[in-house]
Amino acid sequence: MGRIISFSSGKGGSGKTFSSVNFSAELASRGNRVLIFDLDINCSNVFILLHVKPETKLQDYFEGNIPLRECILKSEHGIDVISAGINVQRFVQFENDYNLSNLATDLKELKDDYDYIIIDYAAGINQMVMRFYAMSDDIVLVANPEITALADLYRLMKMLHVNNKTNKMYLLVNKVKNIDWAINLHKEVKKVSEKFSLKIDLKLLAPILFDDDKVMRSVQKRTPLIKLFPKTPIKGGFALAVTRYLDEIGESLDDKDIKSKTFSNFF
Ligand SMILES: Nc1ncnc2c1ncn2[C@@H]1O[C@H](COP(=O)(O)OP(=O)(O)OP(=O)(O)O)[C@@H](O)[C@H]1O
Ligand SMILES: [Mg+2]
Repeated sequence: MGRIISFSSGKGGSGKTFSSVNFSAELASRGNRVLIFDLDINCSNVFILLHVKPETKLQDYFEGNIPLRECILKSEHGIDVISAGINVQRFVQFENDYNLSNLATDLKELKDDYDYIIIDYAAGINQMVMRFYAMSDDIVLVANPEITALADLYRLMKMLHVNNKTNKMYLLVNKVKNIDWAINLHKEVKKVSEKFSLKIDLKLLAPILFDDDKVMRSVQKRTPLIKLFPKTPIKGGFALAVTRYLDEIGESLDDKDIKSKTFSNFF
């Protein structure tokens, strides 16, 4: 039985999609079966980053003609995808409570076929997508190290805690210039949470460096950055994030040294 991991953020553009794709690629490179569900239905772009030709199958699914399983697209990067693609003229009408509730139920059934299902959300949280958080085993918050990130992060954590009773979350700090930025953000948000008695165990997975040149090139090549540039700090960041995550959920490798090795090797 697989696990569902939600990639979330308060503000748009923090790197949820980038992180979903590269975290998935790292999991897949370790032999896991991974599916990304692109829940940013009207603005989906996972299929672009993974070089998958989008088809209009999700439309057929919403119209009740095919099961969700038939919407799965295979990428050349060893990651499966369900994405709406760019054919969205009728999706707005499909995005209602009834359809999303069925979608959540059907997605849950796919847990039998995968080790990990990653959900990439649109920015922010609304009541309609709360059921996807409710069925998630884990939540990864993707934040940037700006001064406003602290407030965004706290708000998001509180919303998930209150609505979803989530007590443990993971943090990826993306677009950092150095590791300290991530460590500081993590410390600060923990301090604020304690001050306001928000009882959430927030685990820092890893800092992910800002590198617009390599990110751009990986987008152009339609290849996850960690595959295109396997000897870079960003690869090190995602390797550390996945190792820490697997360790937390009890799926870590025997070699405990790997935690210290993976990241430092890339600097
Ligand atoms: N580590 C990074 N270094 C440089 N650029 C990055 C990095 N991570 C993401 N980007 C770029 O930042 C932009 C936003 O990233 P992305 O689309 O993954 O964010 P998002 O949170 O999914 O956005 P949205 O909320 O709109 O779905 C993209 O242009 C992406 O290529
Ligand atoms: Mg996105």
